[in-house]
Amino acid sequence: MKSLYHLMILVVLLGPVKFNECKTTDARQNTVRRFPEGFLFGTATASYQVEGAWNVDGKAENIWDHLTHTHPCDIKDCSNGDIANDSYNQYKRDVEMMRELGLDFYRFSLSWTRILPTSFVDKINEAGVNYYNNLIDEMLKYNIQPMVTLYHWDMPQKLQDLGGWNNPHIVDWYGDYARTVFELFGDRVKNWITMNEPREICYQGYGDVTMAPRLNIKGVADYMCAKNLLLAHARAYHIYNDEFRETQNGTIGITISAGFSEPASESEEDKVAAEEAALFGWGIYAQPIFSETGDFPSILKEKVAAKSAEQGFLRSRLPEFTPEEVEYVRGTSDFFGLNHYSSGYTFRNESVLGIFESPSSDDDLGAGSYVLEEWETSASSWLKVVPWGFYKLLVKIKDDYNNPPVFITENGFSTLGGLEDDGRISYYRKYLDAMLDAIAEGCDVRVYTAWSLMDNFEWMQGYTERFGLYEVDYEDPARTRTPRKSAFVYKEIVRSRALDWSYQPDTDVMTIDDGH
Ligand code: BGC
Repeated sequence: MKSLYHLMILVVLLGPVKFNECKTTDARQNTVRRFPEGFLFGTATASYQVEGAWNVDGKAENIWDHLTHTHPCDIKDCSNGDIANDSYNQYKRDVEMMRELGLDFYRFSLSWTRILPTSFVDKINEAGVNYYNNLIDEMLKYNIQPMVTLYHWDMPQKLQDLGGWNNPHIVDWYGDYARTVFELFGDRVKNWITMNEPREICYQGYGDVTMAPRLNIKGVADYMCAKNLLLAHARAYHIYNDEFRETQNGTIGITISAGFSEPASESEEDKVAAEEAALFGWGIYAQPIFSETGDFPSILKEKVAAKSAEQGFLRSRLPEFTPEEVEYVRGTSDFFGLNHYSSGYTFRNESVLGIFESPSSDDDLGAGSYVLEEWETSASSWLKVVPWGFYKLLVKIKDDYNNPPVFITENGFSTLGGLEDDGRISYYRKYLDAMLDAIAEGCDVRVYTAWSLMDNFEWMQGYTERFGLYEVDYEDPARTRTPRKSAFVYKEIVRSRALDWSYQPDTDVMTIDDGH
């Protein structure tokens, strides 16, 4: 979602905005709200952001190794993930932290090139496999379930040289990789996520420069990526479904990032613009999988085809799915994995005509967005505190996609560091409260994952923005992890299965409590 707000156009607010903004009243804050029976809590990280050991024990180069080594200062602090949190060596401490928090599960991702250094299945790297076996076994020892993402942005560089998500053969290559990991770990891993955030992969990495591989081929590469990525996701789903589900008994789905686009006014034009912004932003990935009919949203197909023709293209820049492909992709997720952080307003009027680079998906959409200056902010420019957006988004997912089971696979807040992170505590409380409102409204939300267990390499922002419940000291070769105040608050939420705004930690010493 963040890129939408990176590209945000600041406009002067036209007219008054009416809002049910303050769902969270003081009265609400005096009550203790309980989470439903069976609701699960976890935290998340991703391989490149925490593992380090970038070239150790046979691991090969991926696109983030490549970018950070060839263009170090494309990253804000010229840093990289060579060592990151050293989780490759410190996985026992990581599991200890999960036990301290009392987590039900931990979401982490696999590094493709640590397992398959050639990118293909001709060679399996035993040392890489051992690392993940050790991590999984250590977690299971303490009854913490692994939730494993197959792809969290670290494409093998060799496959990127072949086009990455823009090469249709990626469907086979990714499928082969998926089968390998189901074979290796599926006896113990029961929750699989095929892809983390298609929008950040395709729109930011292929259509822009805000993620590796920074292709910046707007309105073309991002759409090609979307099609191939969805087919690759579906390939992994079908492999699991046909070859593993019966014996391994797990679930498999995709994680999509979405913010909420609120119309800037009551006008029909703004309402349509907000709906279309959602379809261009994340419906492009959700609709083919979760809708009754499958396929890309029809308004998207129409708009891109019309613009393409106007621009002199002989066919739409948005590639088509064949009818067989539509069926192949439709229904391929056991749950709706949602990463959500923030929201904004969307509008459409003459002021947005012709202001976007052309061609581009922003130009195809032709809508503007903005946030309000008075909204609380995090350390990340794109992340404002808008809990009502979370509520509205969850209700929209319920209404648009027939109330699928929703796993919140990421939600969190950044600071510049420090152990007293009241801003993060307040964010978590407000967003969990909004989520409980959505559950009360009938949304089938079953799982919540805080991003992140600990500070980590925040992509183009390096180590300048911190999302961790635990602070990591990057000056210290030992990469010492220290619980922040928010870690104690999250621990209490997990322990009590309730949201109690009055809870104040009375200690800064972490302990491991019963059951873990
Ligand atoms: C990503 C994480 C990232 C977080 C905060 C999510 O989009 O999946 O890798 O660190 O947002 O930006």
